[in-house]
Amino acid sequence: MKTILVTGGAGFIGTNFIRHALVARPDWRIVNLDALTYAGNAANLEDLHARYRFVHGNINDSALVESMLAEEKPRGVVHFAAESHVDRSIVGPLDFVETNVAGTTRLLSACRRWWEETGRPDDFRFLHVSTDEVYGSLGPEGFFTEQTAYDPSSPYSASKAASDHMVRAWHRTYGFPALITNCSNNYGPFQFPEKLIPLMILNIIEEKKLPVYGDGRNVRDWLYVIDHCEALMTVLERGTAGQTYNIGGGAERQNIDVVHQLCDLLDQRLGRGGATTSRRLISFVTDRPGHDRRYAIDASKIHKELGWQPRFSFEQALAATVDWYLAHKPWIESVRSGEYRRWIEVHYGGARGKGTEGQRD
Ligand code: NAD
Ligand code: TYD
Repeated sequence: MKTILVTGGAGFIGTNFIRHALVARPDWRIVNLDALTYAGNAANLEDLHARYRFVHGNINDSALVESMLAEEKPRGVVHFAAESHVDRSIVGPLDFVETNVAGTTRLLSACRRWWEETGRPDDFRFLHVSTDEVYGSLGPEGFFTEQTAYDPSSPYSASKAASDHMVRAWHRTYGFPALITNCSNNYGPFQFPEKLIPLMILNIIEEKKLPVYGDGRNVRDWLYVIDHCEALMTVLERGTAGQTYNIGGGAERQNIDVVHQLCDLLDQRLGRGGATTSRRLISFVTDRPGHDRRYAIDASKIHKELGWQPRFSFEQALAATVDWYLAHKPWIESVRSGEYRRWIEVHYGGARGKGTEGQRD
């Protein structure tokens, strides 16, 4: 049995990764270290028992991480734990520095100490899960490659860029067997309803305003979370230590087109149309400061070297995502209670909930 330590596994991608990997890899056992911030929900995984252990704790707690490493002797670490929402980073950047920069650095230090003390096992690797947002914004043409210079715009992307630099430094300085992946925007089940797709799905269901930032023509390259999880398993198992791999869905869409598609999918399912079409809820609001115009990934390296490519089409997976949210109302209620609701009220003054036009702050 091969033990893998996952950080941040109670969040969106981590939850999907753990659920998918336990089925796809019957010889894996997964230990999940998660601090359960507003974005973490241990209930996502409460039905898992065999080959799964949950530890409630913070990646900044080096004593805890060191004792877990000594006890579990993992063959791999998959590091998801982060503050992940751009809008939150604009109003509260320090949490992003604390977890994404300091937390990643403390985690690297603890893992490296353990890896050296145990004789530098060559079958150990550390996979750092990062974002294409480190590369900044594209114009209408071109793609991000692994050689694109870092040029982050938001406190979130700057903190992820800093964490990537730390991971790369740990490889170059200490020979630590780390790999980095930079992926595009994920969507799918279990995504917290502050990101574009789940937020729009829930607002459409509840007939609330759909706040589209700026002119709605910003482009994201959408990646279905299960395709992402398969790419991560591939990189963990067959990637070369010290390398970076870009992961993208090959599905560039303007935000407004995604919102239109979601309206149409839900109208079909909820029997709306004509005067009640959900498109009537669209509300163009003040743009996000520093809003990157376009992201698009060149994923030819992971395709050529490791044979990965996305399996799901955007249309197919978006419809499956809509159906998942329609079928999981108790999950939605549980993650929206408490701190999330308070945050929305403080920072948006109820704009999302009550449909105030033209204002975000
Ligand atoms: P998420 O916000 O849904 O989940 C983050 C998880 O990390 C939560 O369970 C939270 O409780 C946990 N966490 C936060 N701070 C912690 C700490 N100090 N110690 C331990 N646990 C902590 O995030 P996600 O969308 O699942 O993203 C996972 C990773 O993938 C992040 O590193 C993010 O930067 C990266 N990423 C995400 C996307 C995307 O579209 N969601 C795209 C590119 C990269
Ligand atoms: P988001 O899901 O926050 O991801 P990221 O900022 O990391 O790309 O946003 C995706 C896109 O959707 C981005 O261009 C901002 C836009 N957006 C809106 O127009 N309205 C919203 O309410 C949200 C959350 C995002």
